[in-house]
Amino acid sequence: MKSIVISIGGSIIFSDEINITYFEKLNLILKNLIKKYKIYIIVGGGKTSRTYINFGRKIGLKEETLDQFGIDITRINAKILTYIIENSNTKIPKTTNDAKKIKKPITIMGGTTPGHSTDMVGAELAEKTKAIKYIIATNVDGVYDKDPNTYSDAKQIKEIKIDDLIEKFGTNWDQAGKNIVIDGPALKIIKKAKIPTLVLNGKKLIQLERAINNQIFNGTIIKI
Ligand code: UTP
Repeated sequence: MKSIVISIGGSIIFSDEINITYFEKLNLILKNLIKKYKIYIIVGGGKTSRTYINFGRKIGLKEETLDQFGIDITRINAKILTYIIENSNTKIPKTTNDAKKIKKPITIMGGTTPGHSTDMVGAELAEKTKAIKYIIATNVDGVYDKDPNTYSDAKQIKEIKIDDLIEKFGTNWDQAGKNIVIDGPALKIIKKAKIPTLVLNGKKLIQLERAINNQIFNGTIIKI
């Protein structure tokens, strides 16, 4: 069975208000998808990971320790999501190799090792499972020419070459909790493994569904 990998930001799943309808809709979409595909979901750390990382940085902890805080939070988020998403694993794998061994229709996991975000974990899984699609479900409508959370005149980019993204963001990991649309180490894998990657707003499930079904969607296609 072919696989699809979805990396979903922690802030999408765990906002201040719990949106039950969102989870019901997500379950419905996934229930249909698992008839045809094996699904991997990688959950981010969201606001909680940044709170711990910022605190740790203020008290002078080293970057690797801060990354580890982030990883722990992503794994807690992943664990909670396993109680919400039907047909999913119960134990959270700590590596992408372990994730591959899980036989459930849906495998949910968080981070793995320091030095990158969960975007890279998703790219690694997409590479290892030869996924037909890697979807990065973030909190904005895809990739923009500048940060849309800061600049109101930021313009959405419908299609962008992977090389242009790498030129813009690089392939390095600078610091724990760094909040960019796709992290550098993920870009490196997407380019190397030629992974068909789409970026969209994870809060807009209709767009996720459209992207999965090869329909026109509101977001960004990364040209590889
Ligand atoms: P996230 O993947 O959540 O980063 O990991 P993010 O960009 O803040 O994503 P959102 O907000 O959920 O969309 C949180 C932090 O955990 C560490 C990194 O420091 C990252 O910034 N981390 C995560 C790792 O070091 N390794 C991992 O595999 C995953």
